Order: sequence, then structure tokens, then C-alpha cells
Amino acid sequence: MCGIVAYIGSQAAYPIILKGLKRLEYRGYDSAGIALYGKNITNFKKKGRVAELESWTDEITLTASVGIGHTRWATHGEPSDVNAHPHKSNSGKITLVHNGIIENYASLKQELIQKGYTFESATDTEVLVNFIEEIQQSNNYSLEEAMRIALKRVVGAYVIIVMEEGFPNRLIAARKGSPLVIGVGDGEHFLASDASPIIEYTKKVIYVNDYELAIISEDEIILKNLGNEPITPYIQQLDMELAQIEKGGYDHFMLKEIFDQPASLTDCLRGRLDSENMTLTLAGVEQHLSVFAQAKRIVIVACGTSWHAGLVAEYMIETLCRIPVEVEYASEFRYRNPVIGPGDIIIAISQSGETADTLVAIERAKEQGAFIFGVVNAVGSSIARISHAGAYTHAGPEIGVASTKAFTAQLTVLAMMAMKIGKAKGTLASAEYDRLIAELALIPEKVKTSLATHEKIKEVAKHYADARDFLFLGRGYNFPVALEGALKLKEISYIHAEGYPAAEMKHGPIALVDENLPVLFIATKDAYYEKIVSNIQEIKARKGMVIAVISEGDTLIRDMADHVMVVPEVDELLAPLISVLPTQLLSYYIGVLRGLDVDKPRNLAKSVTVE
Ligand code: F6R
Repeated sequence: MCGIVAYIGSQAAYPIILKGLKRLEYRGYDSAGIALYGKNITNFKKKGRVAELESWTDEITLTASVGIGHTRWATHGEPSDVNAHPHKSNSGKITLVHNGIIENYASLKQELIQKGYTFESATDTEVLVNFIEEIQQSNNYSLEEAMRIALKRVVGAYVIIVMEEGFPNRLIAARKGSPLVIGVGDGEHFLASDASPIIEYTKKVIYVNDYELAIISEDEIILKNLGNEPITPYIQQLDMELAQIEKGGYDHFMLKEIFDQPASLTDCLRGRLDSENMTLTLAGVEQHLSVFAQAKRIVIVACGTSWHAGLVAEYMIETLCRIPVEVEYASEFRYRNPVIGPGDIIIAISQSGETADTLVAIERAKEQGAFIFGVVNAVGSSIARISHAGAYTHAGPEIGVASTKAFTAQLTVLAMMAMKIGKAKGTLASAEYDRLIAELALIPEKVKTSLATHEKIKEVAKHYADARDFLFLGRGYNFPVALEGALKLKEISYIHAEGYPAAEMKHGPIALVDENLPVLFIATKDAYYEKIVSNIQEIKARKGMVIAVISEGDTLIRDMADHVMVVPEVDELLAPLISVLPTQLLSYYIGVLRGLDVDKPRNLAKSVTVE
């Protein structure tokens, strides 16, 4: 979490950093700050959104051409002016922004207090900046040397960008566990947590790796490791357009991203699915087909919405490939000493590619000999880079904090993987494979048809915007969709919602049912249809309100439910790609009706780079 931006060059740094921070606000938005190097370093920071910084107008905001900025998601210390970044060292010589957590900050702070250091804030970051200063001053080291030594003693995750009084043409950055991209311009350089603040200035970027230090002036980038050995920077070309990170006429990014799905799924299938020749091309899987075919088991690790995609993949892979699959919360998996070894495949699913728990989970599994396959959206991200192989979801940048188009793209990639592996193993018959290819090719069009019902879903939303609780139920492939629907509603509307397998309802949640509880069934036509009809009856018999996502032409549930949201019929293996859409729209409209900021729900951040 937290977004950082820096600029060094000959343009005014302030507007570039301010705009960059707005682009990164999805990473955290409880306070923000900018430090600019004019005659000396001036720091301006405030509790609240990045827009709070717009009131800063003095000479330095017009003239300074070097600066660093930060938008915060609080970990240590509540959101406040004083806890906002940048933080200065006691002498005022070093100023720093930080994304991550310094886990041993308490012991370092004690050490520093004994040496006479004082602290204004409750942050781990203020400890880090003073720790660097202490090493620098007591050994008479350069800032670079002091940072190298300090960072070797720091436990935790960080990206830091540091400015020093007396060195107006230099920024020093370092990373471990949190993302950092350098934009390479002509006589100017940009640094940021992701490429979105950089894209309109340059498409040449360097992704900094863990344990690397970057010393940057307007016309030079020096990369070194923490052992002070030089590293040749690898400059890549960004595959992203500015329009992809703007709202494009929609009220919110979330709505734009929901409506992006016909296009994002087309992008995801492009060059992979060929329904004329009945082929699927997935280079990452093809190059390691024997690894997949011989796998003893597959463990999927992910968090949140990506974990829900993993649950769908469990059904897909077990059905088509007959390989046992386990789906793990990355945060649990990483700490419980799991039994992992050669012959195991770990599939890490992540939109951002930077989620700290997922990243560490796969690092551990990799050390234990597992083969790591990344299903990642953000190109060049840490999870993509650490994986042995992978398949990008190509959904384009997702800015709305609640994940929508990334989820459906994950499902699409996972379905293609299951089909490809199943075909290679012989567990998926050719005729069935061809049928699924044909079905998959129709998905973008069916998504479009489904989204065209948005006005009807808006009407449904009006009936439930004041609900206190919600229950989401589904079976089989639609069970993870129930979980995802509940998560989306919680995030966006702050309505308490729970997702359950529909049959499991009788083992507890049914006690909640009364005339005030909306129960949303994901009830499209599949092998479980009759069972779900019985579950709906059970709710109606107890006077619960029933909303149902149903397949076109289904009159039985239409007549039983209070409200329905209709989707085109799809093969059950691919059903989640379509049945999730009404739940995304319903959450969005309820959030808007409740007057909430659906793109930036309270307490959340898009990229969870702390554990
Ligand atoms: C929910 C949501 C989160 C993320 C989770 C994992 O709408 O966005 O639950 O799915 O934080 O993030 P990634 O996929 O970036 O690893």
C-alpha cells in the first residue's frame, strides 16, 4: 500500500508529482505529502486526500525541479498531518518517503532514543530516516553508504526515495518487497510505485529489483546492489496507454472497468484462442506442459477476489485435468509451514502482482522446490518476475479499488489453462475441448449482452440500498461467485454480506433469514439447478427476500423470486464469467445510492503491499 512518486529534471516537479499521486491514490488515500528541493528541502503534508495538497502555492511549487511525494495507507500511526510522509531526520538533512513496513522499528527506535533522537510521529518511517542519519553521522559516511548499511539491518518491506540537503541534483531509491519503477526520460527521470504516473512522459522504464539501490540525477541512473556492485539497468518499453488509466466519460473507474469487460476479455483471449482452428496458445503452459501433466497436485495461493478466482479454478482443473487442487489464502499458507516440494505446482493469482502475502508465499514455495506459475495482471510486477512461468491476464490497468475486470480475466486465463492441460493429459476429450473453445469464444459477446441489462439492475438496487445485511448463495461453479458477490457488496456499500454454498445455509445462516434479509442466489442453469430451486423455496418459506441471477428463459425461478437479474446461458464451467456481472453492477449501484465513494472505499487500498 501507499503510493510514491518522485521527479528529477528541468520541469516544475510539483504538478508532475501531484498528478502522479492522484493516479496512485488507489494505493492509499488517508494522507499525502510532497517535499520539493528549492533553495533547500521544503516539506508539505496533510491528512486527507491528495487534493488537500493543491492549496500549496508558493515559489517553490513553481520553480523546484526535484521532489518526492507520497499518498498513505496508514499502518503505524493514525492518519494525521504529522504521520503523513515525507519524513525528515532530526537534523533536517534527510527527507524520505516510504512504502512498506519496517518490522523491527520498535527496537531500532529504542536504540535511537538512547542516542538522543526524538520522534514527532508514530511511524516506522521516521525511525528509518533517523536510523540512516545515525549511521551516516556516526561514521561520517555518504548517504548512499549509510543507506546500504541501514537497509541490511532493516527487517520488513520497503521502497524508499531519499533526498539530502546539499545534494539538489540527486535522489536515492531502494527497494525490498514493494514495487518501484523508474521512468527514463530525456534529461529527466521519474520514479513511482507503478507506471501510471510515468506513462504520459516516457514509455521507457526500469523495474527495480529487491535489494537494489538506484542513484538518480537528471541525466544518469546508477543501479547497485546492497553489496555496492553495479548492475546494468534493463530498460523496457511500457505496453500501456494513457486512455487506459483515465475514466473515459464514466462517473467512476469501477463502472468503466465493469463495462470494459467485453474488451478486456477479448484482449485476454487475443492471440490465444483460435476458434476457427480450435487451438489454444498459452506459451507459459506449453513450455512446461510436462511439469503440469506430471504434477502431483496444484496449490493455488491468492488473496481476496483473486482467491475467489482460485476457487473457481479448483473446480475447473479438477474437472478437466484430474489433478488435485488446493486453494490457500496466501497469508495463511506462508506462515503454516506447508508441506511443499518438487512435483508441486503453485499457481499465484494476483491482479497487482505486488500483494505482499502472495509474494512471500511463492518465494517460500520456490525455495522448497515447487514450480511457480503466475496468473498476474500487472505486467512486470514482482509476482510475475519471481514466477518460473506465467500467463498475463491482459485486463489492462485496474484503478477502481474493488476488483472487477481483473477477476473475469483471471477466470478466462485459468479456464484456458485447465483446457490446455486437460487436453495434453488426455483427461479432456477432444470433442469436449472443441466445445469449450467455441463457448469461450462467445464469452465477450455474452458479457456485453449481460451488461446491457444495467438499467434493470439499477432498479433492483433501489429496493435493497437500505439493507443492513445480505446473504449470497451459490452451488458448484457459482459458489465462489456468491463469495465474490458478498465481498464486492461489503467493500462498496459497507452492507454486511456473507457468501455461502447454498446447501451449507441450513447448517447455520438460515437462522438469519426473516422478511428483512435479502438473499441473493446465483442460480443459473447448471447441474445443480434443481437443488438451488429447493434452496430458494426454503428461503421463501421463511419469508426471506429473494434476488436471483438466472439464465435467460428461466420462468421457474423468475416466478419464485422477488427480483431477478437475467444473464445469457453459458456452459457451467464458464458460468462465473457471466454470473458475476450482475453482482458487480448491483454492488456499484447500491454503493452510489448510498452516496459512497465507490472507487475509494474507506480503509481499503488496491495494492496490499504490507502483510
Ligand atoms: C477486492 C479486491 C481485493 C484483492 C486482493 C488481492 O475487490 O480487490 O480483495 O483481490 O487484495 O489483490 P491482488 O489480486 O492484487 O493480489
